[in-house]
Amino acid sequence: MQYEQPATLPQPDALSAQQCDRVADHIRRRIAACDGQLSFAQFMHEALYAPGLGYYSAGSTKFGADGDFVTAPEVSPLFGRIVARQCAEVLRGIDGSEVLEFGAGSGKLAIDLLQALEALDALPGSYNILEVSADLQERQRQRFRRELPQLVERIRWVTAMPSGFDGVMVANEVLDALPVERFVRRDSGVLQACVTDKDDGFAWAERPAPKPLAAAVAALEGDLGIRLPNAYTSEFSLAAQAWIAEIAESLGQGAVFLFDYGVSRREYYAPERNDGWLRCHFRHHAHNNPLIHPGIQDLTSWVDFSAVAEAAVAGGLDILGYQTQSQFLLGAGLEAEMQGFAGLSLPEQLELSGQVKTLTLPGEMGENFKCMVLGRGELAAPSAFQFTDRTQTL
Ligand SMILES: C[S@@+](CC[C@H](N)C(=O)[O-])C[C@H]1O[C@@H](n2cnc3c(N)ncnc32)[C@H](O)[C@@H]1O
Repeated sequence: MQYEQPATLPQPDALSAQQCDRVADHIRRRIAACDGQLSFAQFMHEALYAPGLGYYSAGSTKFGADGDFVTAPEVSPLFGRIVARQCAEVLRGIDGSEVLEFGAGSGKLAIDLLQALEALDALPGSYNILEVSADLQERQRQRFRRELPQLVERIRWVTAMPSGFDGVMVANEVLDALPVERFVRRDSGVLQACVTDKDDGFAWAERPAPKPLAAAVAALEGDLGIRLPNAYTSEFSLAAQAWIAEIAESLGQGAVFLFDYGVSRREYYAPERNDGWLRCHFRHHAHNNPLIHPGIQDLTSWVDFSAVAEAAVAGGLDILGYQTQSQFLLGAGLEAEMQGFAGLSLPEQLELSGQVKTLTLPGEMGENFKCMVLGRGELAAPSAFQFTDRTQTL
């Protein structure tokens, strides 16, 4: 892996450095308890979600200008308003339907969605949130009380996937936050990338891949019709596969809107992409060394949307559509949302056009981010796919 030199990253402040030491100590103890090695997926899980310690579980600001990265709902309320138009189409067609948002982060998307659904006269009976971080749940609670007092009664936090859920599920940038396995293809077989404790930090190690990972690599090689070359290194998300299976188990009737940066399997495992798709975010600097700054930087991996589609179909869901975020926003009502543009002041117009550019331009979030919609029941394809659908590229 070619690492960006940590010297190009900003230095953590004193409090963050202490937090990082605490998380590193915790991971070291976990490594010692596991015979000196954690799989990368275990390392990523501890760094992000160790209770009270991990990046998402401890109290730092992650989202927005003061944090480490910006997501689409943080860029503009337009995102939530347009997603709400699509949700409304589904909610209106199913009696007693609800919304379930996974990984609600700062709570911004929930606020925009609920306000827009109210304006569209399509409020769900309840808006459920499944958020694994207790710290983020508490922040969401406080924010909704402050910014959404008239609708706060409709919001509930759930701790597990409901059964027989009817309605709309939404997840923005959750798939990329699920821990991934990292593997190395050798002529001798498939190896699992692991993390060990070394001198003052962490280091990579390899061991024979356990059965589920070896089987997943064999299956994707079978699908691609090639054997990956010696030393080819990449990721596979067993967690995403399991998460989609759980969603399929949970959904009675309705649609699942997934937004994330990702590509099809052919692009994901392209020959030139021989170092995988891990990306780390620290104070708005993106780099590819996940072993530094444990607990104070975000760790993500791009999504193989072909794998998501496979898991969905295996769970009995239909693929209702797949396209880029920019195609989704254009098909789902961006133009309608811009109708009042001429009446805005010049500074407001500049701000709004800046937001639209960030959400839709190819070099920003427009192309790398995709929207996949899964569904079950008598549902029409969402109108977002009226112009384009790239499902056949998966
Ligand atoms: C990158 S953040 C995205 C936050 C928000 N959706 C947004 O767009 O700003 C990932 C979120 O997913 C949550 N998360 C991670 N794994 C999850 C899971 N298995 N179920 C639900 N939420 C999860 C994290 O705690 C965090 O809130």
